[in-house]
Amino acid sequence: MTPESPAAETYARAGGKVILLGEHAVVYGSPAIVVGLKLGAEAHARPDAVASLDLGGQRHELRGGNELRADNAAEPELSRAFRALLGALEAPPARARAELAIPAGAGLGASAALGVAIARAVAGATRSTGAGITAAALAWENVFHGNASGVDTAAAEHGGCLWFQRGVGTTPLSAAAPLRLAIAQVEPGASTRVMVEAVAGRHRADPQGVELRMRAIAQLVERARGALAKGHLGELGELMNDNHELLRALGVSTPRLEQARTMALRAGAFGAKLTGAGGGGCVVALVDDVTRPRVQAAWAAEGLRQLEAID
Ligand code: PMV
Repeated sequence: MTPESPAAETYARAGGKVILLGEHAVVYGSPAIVVGLKLGAEAHARPDAVASLDLGGQRHELRGGNELRADNAAEPELSRAFRALLGALEAPPARARAELAIPAGAGLGASAALGVAIARAVAGATRSTGAGITAAALAWENVFHGNASGVDTAAAEHGGCLWFQRGVGTTPLSAAAPLRLAIAQVEPGASTRVMVEAVAGRHRADPQGVELRMRAIAQLVERARGALAKGHLGELGELMNDNHELLRALGVSTPRLEQARTMALRAGAFGAKLTGAGGGGCVVALVDDVTRPRVQAAWAAEGLRQLEAID
């Protein structure tokens, strides 16, 4: 490439996710089972004199070449997240633009999908990977979430059906029966940071009670792994229902999530639960080819937006 020729642009994408079981407890070291969505985020990047990120119709420019790696608390979160991502990649300034194809803040891993897609595009365009894509996406995610377990970034990076445990890693899971899901956005989600802090507050107030529930969640995630491997969808659905009840007891459900979940169960789903941080957001239902259209029709009659997982 001559100095005059425009720098090549690199394209990358990453998927969103639904947590099948284990959210919140995963922050405390329990395992979780997560499934990738068909849609997620797309990003383009090329080297540039000034680092910038175009997202949602806004440009976020980062000033201060060598200070790219320093955290600047006065900056907007998106700029700080992009700065953290570039720092982890040890990348020179790059111009990135990104788009989301899934709703943000609904528990579908939108920010992690953005982080992975942007990290991949920037790494490709600048040929720098520093600590790696996973670490760069987690650095981005931590600016928004404070104490992200890494389940969302793992799902965005790998896709498919995964077993995830903080500090341990990610294992692909295979199911003996087709894993059919129906997913609906019921209402806008609450901030993951706020919901994770709310659970931490409950833990401070009642450590024994919360730890009991966390252990119960860990046990049912373990059992769900076996149910998946054997293709026992009825058992898996029951475990999702039990997981939902434990999440409700942790205070992260809402009346609308309860209502959408009940609709899915009445329409024949094997199981249904809130997914993600809660306080709003989405419900995921375990279905088959017969019950999926029924659940989807019930939710469509309520005008709920629906999303597709990778079957
Ligand atoms: O950001 P959400 O809504 O997908 O929540 C992620 C799952 C949590 O367990 C609540 C937080 C985390 O970092 O694992």
